[in-house]
Amino acid sequence: MEGQRIQSLAMRIALEFPEVTQTNPFGPDSEVFKVADKMFLLASDVNAEPVITLKCEPEYATALRQEHESIVPGYHLNKRHWITIAGGASITDDLVQDLVINAYELVVESLPKKKRPARATVHDLRIVTADDPATLVANSALFDHQVSAEGAADFLSRPGHILFLALSPDGEGVGFVSGVEMRHPDKQPEMFVYELGVDKDWRRRGVAKALLGALRGEARSRGCTGMWTGTEAANGPAIATYQSMGATVDTASVFITWDKL
Ligand SMILES: CC(C)(COP(=O)(O)OP(=O)(O)OC[C@H]1O[C@@H](n2cnc3c(N)ncnc32)[C@H](O)[C@@H]1OP(=O)(O)O)[C@@H](O)C(=O)NCCC(=O)NCCS
Repeated sequence: MEGQRIQSLAMRIALEFPEVTQTNPFGPDSEVFKVADKMFLLASDVNAEPVITLKCEPEYATALRQEHESIVPGYHLNKRHWITIAGGASITDDLVQDLVINAYELVVESLPKKKRPARATVHDLRIVTADDPATLVANSALFDHQVSAEGAADFLSRPGHILFLALSPDGEGVGFVSGVEMRHPDKQPEMFVYELGVDKDWRRRGVAKALLGALRGEARSRGCTGMWTGTEAANGPAIATYQSMGATVDTASVFITWDKL
């Protein structure tokens, strides 16, 4: 994506968050976005090239710089805590959106509770039952692919197949977790966490933790003694989420898949 587009996308996303202000303290050519008077995004020109500079955790910043040629340490800012992004083929809309959300959340989390903007939280968590496949079809946007009525009904009606949906105050689905109870002749029952996903606009508000907590409670009530899942080693948000729910991460294991049978 080109630098100009990165800037306009980042600025549009930043203005959607609660209590964001846009000012020009460094002159008319730099747009500064703040929450509670703390900057999280700067859109400016560096050597006549349009760039954005964002707050970012040091470890994540290092990983991003290794992966993307056009992401460099924050220009004129603390190089450990800020990144500057210029136009580049590997910079996608999704990446820009994720990084702007991340920057905003980092600043909000660093604020004293009283200064944090009020924001909507999950209103309801519920298990989707076999007689309600339409709910999954209606919330297809949360899944990797369009959900079919048959696929939803099939999953929901199978023993030990569980799906929790998190709902916004408007009743809109904002996240889900699915699990499958596994049995083996020599083992105690365990819960496999099949999929976990939260709508981009609702991330970093504890939705995934609430969903995993609900699945864990359900697993316990079914007599499961453990829960497990897998994810890519580079999926930092997923690993952080599982760890914050008490999971241990086994880095020595590998995934084996047969793509075609
Ligand atoms: C992974 C995912 C489900 C997390 O959802 P979420 O609702 O934003 O997570 P939560 O707000 O409940 O956060 C849970 C914990 O993880 C941490 N975390 C979440 N996203 C993070 C990020 N991007 N960077 C660092 N920490 C992060 C939170 O700080 C929180 O930790 P804490 O309780 O110690 O403060 C979400 O990012 C997502 O849908 N990703 C795409 C799909 C995916 O990768 N699914 C999982 C693998 S199948």
